[in-house]
Order: sequence, then structure tokens, then C-alpha cells
Amino acid sequence: MDQGLLKTTILGTGRALPERIMTNYDLEKIVDTSHDWIVSRTGIEQRHVADEHTATSDLATEAGKKALEKAGIKAEDLDLIIVATCTPDSPNFPATACIVQHNLGAKKAGAFDLETACSGFLYGMTIADQFIKNGMYKYVLVIGAETMTKILNWEDRNTCVLFGDGAGAAVFGPSEDGSGILSAELGSDGAGGDSLIVPAGGSRMPATAETVEKKLHTIAMDGSEVFKFAVRTMGGASKRVLEKAGLGVEDVDFLVPHQANVRIIANAAKRLKLDMDKVMVNLDKYANTSGATIPMALDEALEQGRIKKGDHVVLVGFGAGLTWGASVIKW
Ligand code: ACO
Repeated sequence: MDQGLLKTTILGTGRALPERIMTNYDLEKIVDTSHDWIVSRTGIEQRHVADEHTATSDLATEAGKKALEKAGIKAEDLDLIIVATCTPDSPNFPATACIVQHNLGAKKAGAFDLETACSGFLYGMTIADQFIKNGMYKYVLVIGAETMTKILNWEDRNTCVLFGDGAGAAVFGPSEDGSGILSAELGSDGAGGDSLIVPAGGSRMPATAETVEKKLHTIAMDGSEVFKFAVRTMGGASKRVLEKAGLGVEDVDFLVPHQANVRIIANAAKRLKLDMDKVMVNLDKYANTSGATIPMALDEALEQGRIKKGDHVVLVGFGAGLTWGASVIKW
């Protein structure tokens, strides 16, 4: 645990979802799958899907506005905007964060994207924490925002049933009452990179008519490899950040895990000896929105009054890269 430095806390959160809902029954009409299979293997019942006019920055801007409103902070007072996304508006530049900066009118803010897929929000908040703790910046907006459905192969039942669109945001600032981020861990294992990949569209395989025809711009995944990695990582990283914060599993009041699969979440809860009523699960409604799941889940948990002042909250996630992140926050 850091001693003697400022602490960083969350001043407000927000989330945004596209209107259109696609249920598992809708998917049954597109691919060879069933509502029962999807629910029993993942816990997902439906997902929100962005229309052709909606880009990641649109959802990110809406979530960011709501977080600013709740925090009572003006966009002009933001020092930095970080957008964690693996589905940016443009594949190279400008950064989605710059589009959001313009949309919000955050005139003095620096802005950049970061790409660690589903772990993105945890990476973003840990970066925000450093800037705030060392006194360089006061207010940092971190947004996890995705339009995952735009990079899905709707003929691949292994992947298209798993993902959805959405954005979650949090305004970070200095803590005045001892609450805030107590510890964090960021991790990666690039050896597993091929198990979750969009093969084409970058410098290794630039876009051609052939890559488009072969659907190489969509998600390819080895589900069981990712599953094993996730189970291994979620429990281990949670325990290590608790230890860093001088806490034990018995001190955890609430868990906000990445929302990919309810079986992965239940396994992490078991390792932390937590009843599921102390674990946020909303993937039944939203599916896996990658970098957006954790801030969306946090915002919804706060709205439902499930996190109280003084609670120790663990955030933990994993994603493509492969990557992971975890953090303990005293509320
Ligand atoms: N509907 C019906 N059957 C299906 C479907 C589907 N949508 N998808 C796969 N199946 C079939 C498979 O083809 C397989 O059939 P077979 O035995 O005849 O070959 C069977 O179901 C079982 O497949 P498994 O892969 O063993 O199923 P499993 O229980 O592992 O569940 C799942 C698959 C849900 C993908 C799971 O492995 C998982 O959740 N993995 C983690 C994925 C994940 O979290 N990805 C996101 C990472 S986050 C990021 O960074 C983007």
C-alpha cells in the first residue's frame, strides 16, 4: 500500500447503452444456437447492439457526460481523458478519446486511447491513479467504451453470442476522506495472444479484399483457452491486490468482475469465499461489452445501492493480449 501520497477516489460514474436489444431468441434465427445453450454456458440472455450510425465515441461521450454530472465536475475542469477501447471509431487515428474530448468540450484535457481489451478500464484507472496521486492532475475521466458487435462474425456461433455494446465511465479525483484506490495489479501474457485476436486490419495483415472476404477483421477466439486463463487469473489477481492493500478475502464487501461468463465469475467468487449476492452480475442483460463491463457494472451496482461508504470493493478483469488487471477500492 502507498503511504504518504494522496489517494485517488471515484467522484462519479455513468453508463450508456444503445437502444436496440438483441435476445438469444433473435440469435437463434441467425446462427445454429439456442437460448438454453447460451444461458447455461454463459449466463447471457440478451445484449444491446449499436445501429449503423452509432460509433464507440457516441456511447463514450454519453457515459462520460453522466459521470461528470454525478461527480459535479465540469468538462472544462478535466485534466485528462482516457478511453479504453478495442473498437475505436477509426483503426489508427484520431484517438476515440480526442473525439470524446471535443464532444464534451474538455478544453484543457489531454486525451488518449488505451488498448488492453477487457482489462482496459483497470489499466485506465491505474494510470489515472498515478497522475492524481503524484499531484500532476486533479480530475481524470476514464471511459471503457465498445461497439463489439461491429467486429463480430455473425456466422460464428462460438463468438457472436458472447458480446454486446455499451460504455461506462468514471471521474477520478483526489480523495478528501481517506477513501479511494488502495492497490492495483496490471498483468499480461502475450504468449496467449492468438487465443483471442482480430487477425487483419493492422500492420501484420493490412486490409485487402481477401481479408474482408475471409472475415479476418472479426473476432477469432479459442474459448476454452481463454476460459482457463480467466479462471486462473481472476482469483489470483484479486488475492494479490488484497494482500498489497493489507487485507484478506474476509475483508471483501463487494466484487465487480469483468462480465464475460457467469461461470468464470462464480469461480472467482468461490476463490474469494464470497456469496454471489456480494458479486455484481449484469451480463445477462448486456453480455460481454469488453472494456465497458467493469465501469458499467460499477455504475449499476452504485445505482442499486449495493456499495456502501467504507466498503472494500474489488475490481478484477481479464482480456485479449492476454491481459489482466485488479484493484481494491475503499468506498
Ligand atoms: N450455441 C450452441 N453450441 C455452441 C455454441 C453456441 N453459441 N458455441 C459453441 N457451441 C458448441 C461447440 O461447437 C461445442 O460443440 P462440439 O462439442 O460439438 O465441438 C460445444 O458447444 C461445447 O463447446 P465448448 O467450447 O466446450 O463450450 P464451453 O463450455 O467452453 O463454453 C464459451 C464456450 C462460452 C465460449 C466458454 O469457453 C467461454 O466463455 N470462454 C471464455 C470466453 C471469453 O471470456 N471471451 C472474452 C474475453 S474478453 C476480451 O478481451 C474480448
